Parts: sequence; C-alpha cells; structure tokens
Amino acid sequence: MKTYSTAASLRTALLAAKRAGKSVAFVPTMGNLHEGHLQLVRRARTLADVVVVSIFVNPLQFAASEDLSTYPRTIAADKEKLFAEGTQCLFLPTVDEIYPEGMAVHSKVAVPQLSETHCGESRPGHFNGVTTVVNKLFNIVQPDVAIFGQKDFQQLSIIRKMVSDLCMPIDIVGVPTARAEDGLALSSRNGYLEQTQRQTAPLLHRVLQECRDAIACGYDSYRELEQHAKAMLLEGGFKPDYFSICDARTLREINLDTEEIVILAAAKLGNTRLIDNVTLNVNPSSDWGMLAVN
Ligand code: PAF
Repeated sequence: MKTYSTAASLRTALLAAKRAGKSVAFVPTMGNLHEGHLQLVRRARTLADVVVVSIFVNPLQFAASEDLSTYPRTIAADKEKLFAEGTQCLFLPTVDEIYPEGMAVHSKVAVPQLSETHCGESRPGHFNGVTTVVNKLFNIVQPDVAIFGQKDFQQLSIIRKMVSDLCMPIDIVGVPTARAEDGLALSSRNGYLEQTQRQTAPLLHRVLQECRDAIACGYDSYRELEQHAKAMLLEGGFKPDYFSICDARTLREINLDTEEIVILAAAKLGNTRLIDNVTLNVNPSSDWGMLAVN
C-alpha cells in the first residue's frame, strides 16, 4: 500500500493505472476505521482493480460547537487495517492540501432541500461541508465507483443527488450498516460512550425495528408512531433529535408513489449523537400495500 499526501502525487499514480486499463474504486473516510469501513473496502475490492481510501477529518463539515478537535485520529492502526485488506492507495492529505487558501474562500458545493432536513436541520452547513469535500476528492481521484455506508442514509442520498445533478461519471454504491451483536450501528463516535451509555445505545436500533414491524403489519399512523418512538427513546435515557418515517427517495412525507420507506433517527446519549435507520419496501402487489422488510 502506498500513501500519498498530495493530490498531484496521487493523480500521477492513478493516471498510470488508468492508462494501463485499470478501474478505480474509492472509499472516502475520516479514519478511526472499524469493521463498517473495512466492509466498504472489501466491497470496493470486488468492484475495481485499484482501491483508493482517503482519510481526511474534514473541518468544513464540523460546526464550531462540534467534536472536530477530539474526533478520534488513529492513523497508524488505520494503515495496518487498510494494508491487511489489500488497499493499494491511501490518500492522507493535510487540511492545507485540501483548502490551500482557507475554507472561507474555498468554492462550495451544495445540494439544496435534501441537505436541509433531518441532520441538516440539526447541523446547519454540515452537508455542504460533506458535498464540498466529496466533490473535491472525486475530482482528485476520478474513480469509476465510490462506496459509502448506508448508516449515513441522508449523506448517501445527497451524494447520489450531487453526482446525478452534476453529471459525474461515478457509480455510487451503498453498503448495509455494520452492527455490533446487540444491534448498535458501528460508528467512530461509539468510542465516546461511557459503559452505561454503551449498554443503553442498542435501544435506538430496537425502537427503529419495532417501528418498522408496526408499519409492515399495516399500521399507518406515522406521526403517532414517531411520537411513540421518541417517548420510548426518552424513557430509555436518550435525548431524541428526530425520529422520522419518510419516503426513502425524497426523505419527505410518504405518499402513493412511495416505493421504499426509510425510518431515520438521531438521538443523543450524554454528549454523543448517534444516528441510525431502517428501510422497508412498499410492495404494491400485496393486500397490505407494504410487507417486504429489509
Ligand atoms: O462519512 C464520512 O466519513 C464523511 O462524511 C465523508 C464522506 C468521508 C466526507 O468527509
């Protein structure tokens, strides 16, 4: 595995590979790699000849009040894991390499509407930071395919929309959420949880599953379900941010055209904000209207 810290050196190496007819898969990350990231890398290996992983804790997607300075940085361990998974190229740029004249004067990429709800409402500007850096990384790497986790469902939807709107010739592949045995979605932020909080944390996924089961059984008072779910989270020790049953394509209210439902949730345990989601296919041919649970 070779590590590149400048866009120019990575592009030179990738140009040679592309000229030799090799395809490129790209996995952007912020490091502190866990099994969820490694599943993305394994998927990348099945999709292209060369796998590029980036590790960059992007300051532009953190608000001043957020955890940029304490975000876990574990480069040596990350490198070992990536090497063991057969990654060929690691892109490890500095903040100056990505934002040479500073973030304030750097061009921005925004995906309106989709970026403004759910996490976008609670974390204003967050997704503009994500789309700006992902756009830049895409331009540097110019991959054939890029792989993202479905845990960040809204992020994945926004990136798909950006790629489609801006005619970027990149396939975007979503990989199912990796979970601990008790159901907790793997996340770098799980490391912030104290022992008792870690024991409480799987409740988020259990409540999502219960809500999905109720919908699969034909319960369609979505607002009531959302209120009930928030009450359960509150009772369990969470401070719910949102719990939202919506159309998986638009992230807006379900309507007669809805083919897939996503239930998105974000809630805080102490200072740690956790997000998770589950999906449910709407099957128009069934008597119930919707039955296929993913
Ligand atoms: O999901 C993440 O880790 C980040 O948002 C991403 C896509 C690497 C952009 O910084």
